[in-house]
Amino acid sequence: MRSPLIIGHRGAAGYRPEHTLASYELAARLGADFLEPDLVSTADGVLVARHEPEIGTTTDVAHRPEFAARRVTKVVDGVRTHGWFVEDFTLEELRTLRAVERIPEVRRANTGYDGHFGVPTFEEILALAARLSDELGRVVGVYPETKHPSYFAALGLALEPPLQAALRAAGLDRPDAPVFVQSFEVANLRALAGRLSVPLVQLVEADGAPADLVAAGDPRSYRDLLTPAGLAEIAGYAAAIGPDKDLVIDPDGVVSGLVADAHAAGLAVHAYTFRDENRFLPADLRSVGGPNDPGDAVAELTRFLRLGVDGVFCDHPDTGVAARAALAALPVPVVPESRSPAQTIRSSR
Ligand code: G3P
Ligand code: CA
Repeated sequence: MRSPLIIGHRGAAGYRPEHTLASYELAARLGADFLEPDLVSTADGVLVARHEPEIGTTTDVAHRPEFAARRVTKVVDGVRTHGWFVEDFTLEELRTLRAVERIPEVRRANTGYDGHFGVPTFEEILALAARLSDELGRVVGVYPETKHPSYFAALGLALEPPLQAALRAAGLDRPDAPVFVQSFEVANLRALAGRLSVPLVQLVEADGAPADLVAAGDPRSYRDLLTPAGLAEIAGYAAAIGPDKDLVIDPDGVVSGLVADAHAAGLAVHAYTFRDENRFLPADLRSVGGPNDPGDAVAELTRFLRLGVDGVFCDHPDTGVAARAALAALPVPVVPESRSPAQTIRSSR
């Protein structure tokens, strides 16, 4: 069996402001196999790493008087959103901004890095991964996500052409490249399947429906995509699914059959998002500290890895690495998929 992948979620977002070169570099140094940039587009069509078009939550733009007039209200995938939007800034303008911690009330230590780092381009992230691969003597891959692809396409800033161009320029548009391309939408992945050589990942939320399906009047929800028929369809264009972890084991500890179903369809499973803090952990794994103190995240990850999950998105990549090592050290083999997942979870508590 292949060793499960540890994916540095937004870099090492548990330790540094997300989507900064410092966050990605730390992720690699903590043992992540892949760096995960979410990609959006500047006004001049450059891919940069941000989790959403609105940049007021993760940069200091709100404190820049020269950009005060750029504050607007837009509708992003049906959601009315106020703030500053990356597509209204050229790369040159964006480079004047500094990244800040997204959740300072949870990760107070990270606010010490506010203002230290800029917003990186995708090309800079690819260069960083190459440099770190050389330095660390192992392959550090990249796991880019196209964020709100229909939204950006409607603005004339489609994400896919510059993504493909950047991968090609870096020599990474090939089937064996250490790259996965992911999306919460369906249509852009289908289209990319015919254009890119790297494996694709269909992301799946616990609720709701893909924005492009909603816009097209397609009634299917994310959960509809996970039926055996839905998984077979995904297997036609993707190599893996990236489900919300609650779709694998829900907060009450109930295990679904998703891992076995996906594997039966020939799809790997890369689940998101694992975080150390008590507030993000199931009740039985929280420590006696407060909601922002670390709980037993290794135990949570071990439960997923024992189910045969093939990859995990981790805000704290070192925790993922520790869980993988703990699993490898267990005297018993990974539980066969034919065994009841419910038995698995009960026996691991
Ligand atoms: O992309 C998978 C994982 O990152 C979850 O999505 O971008 O909302 O954090 P995101
Ligand atoms: Ca992501």
